[in-house]
Amino acid sequence: MRTRTVKNMGNYTGQKLEELITEVQIQTRIQELADQISKDYAGRVPILIGVLNGSVFFLADLAKRLEIECELDFIKVSSYHSGTQSSGTVRLLKDISCIVTDRDVIIVEDIIDSGLTARFLKHRLLENSPNSVSFVSLLLKPDCLKLEFEADYVGFEVEDRFLVGYGLDLDQKFRNLPSIWAFSKDMKL
Ligand code: IMP
Ligand code: MG
Repeated sequence: MRTRTVKNMGNYTGQKLEELITEVQIQTRIQELADQISKDYAGRVPILIGVLNGSVFFLADLAKRLEIECELDFIKVSSYHSGTQSSGTVRLLKDISCIVTDRDVIIVEDIIDSGLTARFLKHRLLENSPNSVSFVSLLLKPDCLKLEFEADYVGFEVEDRFLVGYGLDLDQKFRNLPSIWAFSKDMKL
């Protein structure tokens, strides 16, 4: 297993990261998700709404592999203000610019942890009378089960560790790593 050591990040400097999901594993799974979505949405033109900033790489790779036509838009919310703890509330930082009324919407997220963000986003989009709203998340943490939020498409179920890379950040760093890495279980905050 590949490991790396955190550099130039104050208190986190020296912490060990382990590669959890490789680039090849990510891309193989995204192809499967894209095939499924292309089949499910055949003959329709969904709007993919990426949740900024974490979903940008996933949205781009997924959209390029779809065989149907689609449109792209973005929404930005915050639930993790900094560090690795969720604040428990969700704030809208940037709204979509498209009109979703009577359209098929697919929300694209990097990871579902507690499920609060996902639930907030789905309710928010349903307010504008879309034809349908579905949810695709590359990663799913086990805590989500508590909230009973069900994503329609999930890439990987992961254990409850703090993850970075492929869009996921710790204080805005590590998003540009092409694969997904986990902090050690006994990570100090
Ligand atoms: P939730 O509202 O608790 O489901 O949190 C979802 C959001 O928290 C995601 O959109 C991520 O931005 C962030 N998040 C959750 N788990 C992780 C993680 O392990 N690494 C980085 N960000 C995470
Ligand atoms: Mg996010």
